[in-house]
Amino acid sequence: MPVVAPEGTLSVLLRDGTRREHEQAENEGFVARLMSGSLDVAAYADLAAQQHAVYTALEQASEAVRHDARGEALVFDELTRVPAIERDLAHLYGPDWRERVRTLPATRTYVERLHDVGTRLPQYAAHAYTRYLGDLSGGQIVQRMMQRHYGMGSAGLEFYDFPEISRLKPFKDLYRERLDALALTPDEIDVAVGEAREAFRLNRAVFVELGEAHPGR
Ligand code: HEM
Repeated sequence: MPVVAPEGTLSVLLRDGTRREHEQAENEGFVARLMSGSLDVAAYADLAAQQHAVYTALEQASEAVRHDARGEALVFDELTRVPAIERDLAHLYGPDWRERVRTLPATRTYVERLHDVGTRLPQYAAHAYTRYLGDLSGGQIVQRMMQRHYGMGSAGLEFYDFPEISRLKPFKDLYRERLDALALTPDEIDVAVGEAREAFRLNRAVFVELGEAHPGR
C-alpha cells in the first residue's frame, strides 16, 4: 500500500504550495527545448555545470544539518550528487572540466541563497525537497529524453542514477515521511513552504539564463 501523507503535513504543503511554480519550471523555454530535442549535448553540459555549483552548496548544508538533532533524519548519503556530477562533467568537458565550466549569474544567486539560509532546518528541508524529490521524479524523465534525443548513453548522465536506491517510489514516500516527522512548528512550516517557492524561482532563473545562452535552432 502506498503511504499517503495526511492533509496539512509538511510534505503535502510543500507539494501543494509549489504546484504552480513546478508547472512554470517544467514549461520554461530552455527545459521544454532541451526535453524536446531542439538543443544539444553542450546545452545539457551547461546545465550540469550549474547543477555542480548548486549541489556543492546544498551538500555543504547537508553536512551541517547532519549534526542537527531534528535534521539528521533528512540527510541521506544515497542522495549525494556531487561525485556523480563531477564524473558527468569530466565526461562532458574532459579532465580539465574545472577550468572549462562557467557559473551563470543566476546560479551564483542560487548558491548565495543556499549559503545564507541553507543550514537552517526549515530552509534546508525546502531546498533539499525541491532538488532531490525533483531528481527522483522529473529527473528520471530528463535522463531518458537526453538519451533519446542526443544519443547519450549512461556516461554524462550519472546525476540521474541513484544506484543505492533500488526503488524510487518507496524512497520518495520515505523522504516525505521524514519531512513530516521533522516536527516543525507552524511558523517553521510557513518558512519552509515560502523557501520552497523561492527554490523553484531560483531554478527557473537559472533556466532563463541557460535559455539565453542556448536559444536552439
Ligand atoms: C523537465 C521538467 C520536469 C518534469 C518533466 C517533471 C516531472 C515531474 C513529475 C512527473 C513529478 C511527479 C512524480 C511523482 O509523483 O512521483 C514531479 C515531481 C516533482 N518535481 Fe518535477 N519535473 C520537472 C522539472 C522539475 C524542476 C525543475 C524541479 C525543481 C527544481 C522539480 C521538482 C519536483 C519536485 C520537488 C517533485 C515532487 C513533488 C511532490 O510529490 O511533492 N521538477 N516532477
